Amino acid sequence: MSRYAGAHISIKDVSHRYRSTMEPAIADLSLEIEPSEAVALIGRSGCGKSTLLHIIAGLLKPTSGHVVCDGREVNGPSASRVMMFQQPSLFPWLDVSQNIALGLRFNRRMNEASRRVGELLELVEMSSFRQRNVQDLSGGQQQRVALARSLALEPDVLLLDEPFSSLDAFTRASLQRDVRRIARDRGITLVLVTHDVNEAALMADRAMIMRSEPGRIVSALQLNDVTANSNPDDHFKVAREALIEAYENAVGLSMGHASHSGESPTRQPDKALAS
Ligand SMILES: Nc1ncnc2c1ncn2[C@@H]1O[C@H](COP(=O)(O)OP(=O)(O)OP(=O)(O)O)[C@@H](O)[C@H]1O
Ligand SMILES: [Mg+2]
Repeated sequence: MSRYAGAHISIKDVSHRYRSTMEPAIADLSLEIEPSEAVALIGRSGCGKSTLLHIIAGLLKPTSGHVVCDGREVNGPSASRVMMFQQPSLFPWLDVSQNIALGLRFNRRMNEASRRVGELLELVEMSSFRQRNVQDLSGGQQQRVALARSLALEPDVLLLDEPFSSLDAFTRASLQRDVRRIARDRGITLVLVTHDVNEAALMADRAMIMRSEPGRIVSALQLNDVTANSNPDDHFKVAREALIEAYENAVGLSMGHASHSGESPTRQPDKALAS
C-alpha cells in the first residue's frame, strides 16, 4: 500500500454559534496543525471539542473565520478528511469487506476494491473476518472495520471524536496503539477529541487544552518536547504527568491522585478529566 502525506490544517479565527441568540460554542479559535502531526483536543464536556472537529471535517460551517486544509478552504466534507465517531455506524446488511469497500464504491474506485480490502483487513488485523456479518462482531472489531473503511480512501486527515470511549479497556488500548501506528506509518494528520488523559498521552504529539464559555484553547503542550530527555519506556508516564499538570494549571482543577500515578494505560485506562 502506498504511503501518503498528511495535510496541513490552518484554523483561523473560527467562531461558531448554533443560534444567533446563543453564546458562541467556540470563539476566535486559531490553530495550525502540521502535516502528519497528531493533535489531541482535551477539555470538559461542552467546551466545543466536537464543534471544532465537525468544522474541520466540513460537516459544520463556522459562523465566522475559516479552516484551510493544504491551501484550500474547507467548504464541505471530503474523502480526504474522514471522521470516526464513538459508534462505528456500519451497514448491517453488508458484510465486513463490503462495508470497507463502501467509500471506494461511492468514489467509483471498485476496480481497486478487492486488493485494497485485503490490505486493509490485514492492517487492522481482521483478515479472518472478511465475509462476516458485521452484526456478529464485537464493538472493538466493528471499530476496526470502521477504521479500515476510513482508511480505504487514503485520507490525509483522520478526525476522531472519542471513538474508543465505549470499548473495554484492553480493546481500547490496542486500538489506540494501532491507530497511532497506522497514522504515523502513513503520515496521516490526526486530530483526536478525548476526555481521557491517558489516550491523549498515548496518541498525541501535541495536546490542546480547551475551556468553555466560550469554547477556546487555553493551553498547549508539546508532548514530544516533554518526553525528549526521558527513557523511551517512560515516555507514556512522563507525557501523562506533564499533561495532567498542564491541565490542572490551565483549568484550575485538581485531578487528585491521577497526577501521582504512573500506571500503564491497560492497568489504569479511565483517567477521564474530572468534571
Ligand atoms: N446542535 C447543537 N445545537 C445547539 N447547541 C449545540 C449543538 N451542539 C452543541 N451545542 C452546544 O455547543 C457547546 C459545545 O458543544 P460540543 O458538543 O462541541 O462540546 P464537547 O466539548 O464536544 O462536549 P462533550 O465532551 O460533552 O462531547 C455546548 O454548550 C453545547 O450545548
Ligand atoms: Mg463532543
